Amino acid sequence: VITPVLLAGGSGTRLWPVSRKSFPKQFAPLIGEESLFQASARRLAGDRFGAPLVMTNADFRFIVAEQLDQIGITPSAILIEPSGRNTAPAILTAALSVAATDPDGLLLVAPSDHVVPDIEAFGRAVDLGVPAAQAGRIVTFGITPTRPETGYGYMEAEAAGEGPVVLKRFVEKPDLANAEQMIAQGNYLWNAGIFLFSARTMIDAFRAHAPEFMPPVLAALDEAKRDLGFLRLAPEPWNTLPDLSIDYAVLEKADNLSVVRFSGHWSDLGGWDAVWREAQDGAPAERGAVSDERSTAIDCDNVLLRSQDEGIEVVGIGLKDVMVVATNDAVLVAGMDRAQEVRKAVSALKSKG
Ligand code: GDD
Ligand code: MG
Repeated sequence: VITPVLLAGGSGTRLWPVSRKSFPKQFAPLIGEESLFQASARRLAGDRFGAPLVMTNADFRFIVAEQLDQIGITPSAILIEPSGRNTAPAILTAALSVAATDPDGLLLVAPSDHVVPDIEAFGRAVDLGVPAAQAGRIVTFGITPTRPETGYGYMEAEAAGEGPVVLKRFVEKPDLANAEQMIAQGNYLWNAGIFLFSARTMIDAFRAHAPEFMPPVLAALDEAKRDLGFLRLAPEPWNTLPDLSIDYAVLEKADNLSVVRFSGHWSDLGGWDAVWREAQDGAPAERGAVSDERSTAIDCDNVLLRSQDEGIEVVGIGLKDVMVVATNDAVLVAGMDRAQEVRKAVSALKSKG
């Protein structure tokens, strides 16, 4: 069985004001009734998977426990990172904890902020990757790109076909010119941010490409403390870790990457423009104007109107290329092409205190 590892430590500032420091996007019902985190946990709950390991931080531990309980999933462990150090330390920690009982055990690392509605197709893609992972490859999942997005990793596949295919090159978050070039070249895929590998393979990859992570993570696990149902990693060694994603720390450097092409629907809800795009796919809106029960778009083009909590009515008239997201205590109004800059709102508010 594969151990699913759910990464649920990010803060999702680009989805402010729905995503808050104390309640980030992955726990909010952005698409449908369940939270993205719950949908991710369910996706990794079939026959091929064991109980999930959740990597999160102290602020979210009770939300994680409660949301899993609501959908009847019992985690194998909820590990608490003393501070956010991005995905590299979290993934090494998960690999080392699985290796403690089974060095050849397979892990499937997945973000908790994605939309992947076709669970069956996703399961088949995972099955395709298993033999490669058992043979010591780090298996990634590739999405056919549709625009020169700069927020994703790009992967050059050695050959066509569903896979697993050997990866020639991995480029994390290119600038726009490079992204356009890779799209034009045609043999590039987006990195879905989901990885399948054996514990041993990932530990060896860190030893080879990012050895500085090893001593602090080992110490943090060694000195970890049980606290109710949670395992708290030791802060002193942990806080010395570099803040780096797995993409930069390992994937850009590794020479044992493979990719399985995933042709099912996939979306990273990174910003409100992505939520808008996603909502349109679900229910084709008139002239791209997406509204909800408490939001009304009149004569609008390419607009997202959204009212989250209770009560507030939002009405847009004659708007074009605009997003309005209202909660009980904050309203965001921004140009649709400025979605990535919403994190600036969060830093601006923080500095106002
Ligand atoms: N536990 C934990 N701790 N989780 C974290 C941390 C952390 O410190 N930092 C981020 N995460 C979680 C996020 O909550 C998210 O679920 C996942 O790890 C990925 O982090 P993002 O910050 O969302 O990464 P990204 O979207 O910029 O880029 C990654 O995903 C893209 C696809 O969505 C990269 O892997 C790209 O290459 C990829 O294309
Ligand atoms: Mg993301």
